Amino acid sequence: MKKLGIIILMCAAACSAWAQRASYNIIPLPKEVKTDTTQFFTLANGMGIAFDEGNEESTRIARFLQQWVKEATGLELQLTAADKKSPVRLTLIAPAKQGKKSKQPVELTEQQKESYTLTVNKEGVLISAYEPAGLFRATQTLRKSLPIAKGQSVELPFVQITDQPRFTYRGVLLDCGRHFFSVEFIKQFLDAMALHGCNQFHWHLTEDQGWRFEVKAYPDLAKKGSVREKSIIAPSKVRLYDNIPYGGYYTQDECREVVKYAAERYINVVPEIDMPGHMQSALHVFPNLGCTGGPYPVAPHWGVMREVLCGGNPETLNFLKTVFGELCDVFPSPFIHIGGDECPKERWQKCPKCQAKIKELGLASENVKVDGDGGRGSQDGRSAENKLQTYINHEIEQFLASRGRSLIGWDEILAGGLTENAIVMSWRGTKGGIAAAKQNHRVIMSPNVFAYIDHPQLKDLSKSPRTTDSYVVSCSKMYSFEPLVPEELTKEEGDCILGVQANLWTEHVAYPEHALYQLLPRLGAMSEVQWCNPEQKDFENWKARLPQLKKLYDRMGLIYCNEIE
Ligand code: ACM
Ligand code: ZN
Repeated sequence: MKKLGIIILMCAAACSAWAQRASYNIIPLPKEVKTDTTQFFTLANGMGIAFDEGNEESTRIARFLQQWVKEATGLELQLTAADKKSPVRLTLIAPAKQGKKSKQPVELTEQQKESYTLTVNKEGVLISAYEPAGLFRATQTLRKSLPIAKGQSVELPFVQITDQPRFTYRGVLLDCGRHFFSVEFIKQFLDAMALHGCNQFHWHLTEDQGWRFEVKAYPDLAKKGSVREKSIIAPSKVRLYDNIPYGGYYTQDECREVVKYAAERYINVVPEIDMPGHMQSALHVFPNLGCTGGPYPVAPHWGVMREVLCGGNPETLNFLKTVFGELCDVFPSPFIHIGGDECPKERWQKCPKCQAKIKELGLASENVKVDGDGGRGSQDGRSAENKLQTYINHEIEQFLASRGRSLIGWDEILAGGLTENAIVMSWRGTKGGIAAAKQNHRVIMSPNVFAYIDHPQLKDLSKSPRTTDSYVVSCSKMYSFEPLVPEELTKEEGDCILGVQANLWTEHVAYPEHALYQLLPRLGAMSEVQWCNPEQKDFENWKARLPQLKKLYDRMGLIYCNEIE
């Protein structure tokens, strides 16, 4: 009997040595984490995950959790009906009414829709949220807390996590115009975004160098506009080309597949058709839409092209409405991005059609200094040509409004004057965003020096693949970004800032591995700008939490930069 006792004790000791421990030191850090590390719940093979079987989203999220627990730990949990008493439970709860007698349905804020609580106690793990989006964010938190181990039980310290995001718009842009990325890779990109709590995928679908969105009314647009004859291989001044045709586009069915995949991860897809500049691939197919009549090649090199859509040709607006109409058919996003950046006006200044339109509309140049000029190679301030761009934006804004959508544009749309409901995406620093917020317009901050992840993350350029290298956007630089500076914005103006976005331009990023290397772990730094309150932020502490996330990157097959600056 004594011997048996010793064996049991030895077994218990061995088992507990085998058990791996979870840690809630995750990225992005939840709003509030109260841990009791003296007590544990042990998660073991065969335990159940209870969820509401009647709810399709809860069912899907329970399956995700089952899959992620297995991926991290090897443990096989069972899906069970909600009424069974299971150690892991996902529950949707009704928000508390204002007054006890109130019959009014409770309006949740956008942040509350993604909020959740995650409790671990002696009974197990209880996740509760008002909406499935909150359940999803909570299961990602649990996933990131798990040890990366195989086939052992896991000790979860008792905890009470209460979480909700700081900003409602937490985006990442992928430029699929300069280089084309497969739907399979885009799904992996979305998985990486979801892991970091991001909720807006800005899909840059058209560029001078390639048109990537199928438009059924214009079959040649994607077929011919997606292919450039060659690509530049040496720095722009030398202009050497590979002479290899390069192309690819997404059918509308593929776009819908991406929308669905993203929606299942509580990510909205914001499609961008960049106009009236960055349109040379469309001009290749429809040269009559350019001021000079062409011919125009799909651009084989990078930079800002002076060939843009003619602002005075009525066919331009017909074309744009057809394209944006099909875009709205495919993408349910409440916001549609119309680009608007880097549209040189040199052709418009000389074009009889553009000048006739300016005259017809009575647009006069004003000597007004505007925060947000006309862009690289373009005019500053409130010129007649910049006002003509605003006229086009106005027409498209009305069209999108008729489809129930709002317009987002790059900060150059300030130059000719903002249209009534335009949302400004501030990329040339924050000054455009601040100017827009002061005009009571909604803003997304994506200032290049903090948020452009096409730039290198390490000072020593020899350590990284070649990219746009005019400045470095290190993790610490990105992490230090604070979009709401009280000296610049009042509380009301600050409320106009919807959120923050990181942008991955791909002139020099041709392969999925390279795209992931540019993205990670910088998205981890960006995720705390997007999710956490400023008082929670501490770069050294973030760095200390990174190794746990990197183990999960490894398990998920995500490439990342292994050095942090
Ligand atoms: C931009 O980077 N041209 C928006
Ligand atoms: Zn013109």
